[in-house]
Amino acid sequence: MAQSLASSSPPVSPSSAGSVVRALGPASLSNLGPGFDALGACLGQMGDIVDAWRVDEPGVRLVGIEGDGGVLSTEIQSNTAGRAAQAVYAMSGATDGLHLRLHKRMAMGTGLGSSAASAVAGAWAANLALGEPFAKADLVDAVLTGEELASGARHGDNVLPALFGGVVLVSASDPTQYRRLDVPRACPVAIVLPEVQVLTKEAREILPQAVPLHRAIHNASELAFMIDALRAGDWPRVGQHMMRDQMIEPVRARLVPCYEAVKAAALAHGAFGCALSGSGPALFALAATPDEADHISGAMQAASRASGIEARAYVTDLNFDGACAL
Ligand code: HSE
Repeated sequence: MAQSLASSSPPVSPSSAGSVVRALGPASLSNLGPGFDALGACLGQMGDIVDAWRVDEPGVRLVGIEGDGGVLSTEIQSNTAGRAAQAVYAMSGATDGLHLRLHKRMAMGTGLGSSAASAVAGAWAANLALGEPFAKADLVDAVLTGEELASGARHGDNVLPALFGGVVLVSASDPTQYRRLDVPRACPVAIVLPEVQVLTKEAREILPQAVPLHRAIHNASELAFMIDALRAGDWPRVGQHMMRDQMIEPVRARLVPCYEAVKAAALAHGAFGCALSGSGPALFALAATPDEADHISGAMQAASRASGIEARAYVTDLNFDGACAL
């Protein structure tokens, strides 16, 4: 049975100084098959939350983290939310200080953009606390800086969809270049999260440094067709192209032992397509209706379990709003 991704908002932290603002940084799918480092989609109902409030004492401080099991650093320079918030604060030229509290609602190392969600929540919370001097487009560099800390690469295919919402195409070589695609309709998404650890840094290191030209050409044309299908809102066609990556996913699939079984189950139960999200281990499938997504996610979960790997299943949809105040 799919779990709901919706979670209630934590109580607002008491503050003796300025009023507390709260921002949500949403989860995201990335790569979508052939769009390695170039394509991502914002998800509904799941994300990290950052509270922020201004203080007299200069500087940005992360005064607490809740929900991380004690593994994340509160050092600003070592935390994606803190680093992104600090970048926004530095841009503003404010001379007072900013305190932050991170509510880590997403599991880490899932492929669902957990570090990006924190970076985006941190940046948006800082912007809100400053009185919203910046538009989202002004925060691109700040969120990329936060993401780089976690994954070791300045890739924008999680942070930019999480910031802007919807589906975002981003240059893999210069992530400050991006386009939010005009996607006319959302699509229910089934997600399964197998209990397998995949570290993004390692999942990037195992990729080949060179690929045969015919594969690069194949992937380029699949990505082009997928963009066309996304702009048409033709999700069955998106699903087909999303499964035709010949460069990245076939290499990474071996990091997720239930990959083949989960994908086969999704397709056997009517999914339009199924792929790893980012570096995994999460796999997602596109469905015609929320009920079908529920059915598909259950089948994906059962297939993972039958492969000996416990898994959680979720159903959600695309989120066209991106970062927001709560
Ligand atoms: N595009 C990145 C990768 C996303 O696949 O490594 C990481 O989640």
